[in-house]
Amino acid sequence: MALLEWSDELSVGIDTIDKQHMILVRAINLLAMAIEKNSEQELLTAIFETLANYTITHFSYEEELLDHFGYPESVEHKKSHQALVDELKILKEKFDTGEDHLGPQVLKFLVDWLTKHIMGTDKRYAPFILDGMKRQRNS
Ligand SMILES: [Fe+2]
Ligand SMILES: [Fe+2]
Repeated sequence: MALLEWSDELSVGIDTIDKQHMILVRAINLLAMAIEKNSEQELLTAIFETLANYTITHFSYEEELLDHFGYPESVEHKKSHQALVDELKILKEKFDTGEDHLGPQVLKFLVDWLTKHIMGTDKRYAPFILDGMKRQRNS
């Protein structure tokens, strides 16, 4: 069963961003399935790394878009992204040293962070960016 369903609630209304968020949701679901099946930590950390790398790719894309249109809250937004990237690094270190393992708790943290960020922080920039895109098309 998919742990995190894509729904309109998660849509920010910008195609490229929605597509990237859908990929993140799929990667999280893949991780959820692997955890449910009690897969080896080696496989779990490999999926986790793919998810972390794609998250960084997505953040860079989003930040470039915010900068391109001069979004006024871009500094705060970037800080929020950086906080997760730092957290992912710490988690990865803990998995590598065996201090922590990749299980339901980590998964819950990722699901909560992502849904909260998309539905709150990301949705907040949508009207500004969509307006900028419209203006760019009309100029
Ligand atoms: Fe974001
Ligand atoms: Fe995002």
